[in-house]
Amino acid sequence: MNQLEGLLENWRTERLPVTIANRTRRVYDLLARVYPISSYLFHARAHRLALELAAIENGEKVLEIATGSGEMFSRIAGGNAKGLNVGLDLSPSMAARTLGRLRQEHPEVNCTIEAADSRLMPFRDQSFDHVVCCYLLELLASNDIVRTLHEVQRVLKPDGKFTLIMIGQNHESFNQAYRIASKVVPAFLGQQMDRRGPEILEACGFEIEQTRTVTQTLYPSRIVVSRHS
Ligand SMILES: C[S@@+](CC[C@H](N)C(=O)[O-])C[C@H]1O[C@@H](n2cnc3c(N)ncnc32)[C@H](O)[C@@H]1O
Repeated sequence: MNQLEGLLENWRTERLPVTIANRTRRVYDLLARVYPISSYLFHARAHRLALELAAIENGEKVLEIATGSGEMFSRIAGGNAKGLNVGLDLSPSMAARTLGRLRQEHPEVNCTIEAADSRLMPFRDQSFDHVVCCYLLELLASNDIVRTLHEVQRVLKPDGKFTLIMIGQNHESFNQAYRIASKVVPAFLGQQMDRRGPEILEACGFEIEQTRTVTQTLYPSRIVVSRHS
């Protein structure tokens, strides 16, 4: 059994056993209009720091997976006016609304958003210098996390960078509250995975360069910047 198979085996009891992508898509479709509030309250600080650590150069080809309502995507596009900014989200409503938002906020910037699944991305191999992904892995079953990370490797150019944000697991009281809430709305919240995150990234072939944690409104986030190795 290789390292990745071993990790998946250990994980089986902890994580969502099967994909619930269809439910997740329906939930985020319904919430597309109000989701920006949650992103503003809990994610803005981590988005800002992740963008700083990512150090995207103006002119790069950048992909953001699971753009949601586009708060991070708008920051990326604003700093990459000479480059190409591509987003994708499983929820067609999120993707359409976010594309409309981006066209208004950055009419001069080359950007597009696809309604697509991170597990099978509609892009050629080695298309991007940088891939960004915030708060998605929590929503995926363990096999789907691995499929998504392999897709990230496939679409990244050699030596390309991957900037990931996960929900932090460094506050025990927050973890307990999250576990309870996620039993009620699993398709919206998924399951925390920060403790296993770096291990699984490395097993999927990423070299970790930086990791930081940040908290906003009691909600912890872990940022990991890694490179395609
Ligand atoms: C928790 S929200 C995060 C949104 C945004 N990245 C942020 O930082 O606020 C998760 C997003 O992932 C999307 N999503 C869930 N499963 C996905 C998948 N398999 N492929 C692409 N997007 C997915 C949902 O539609 C939702 O918009």
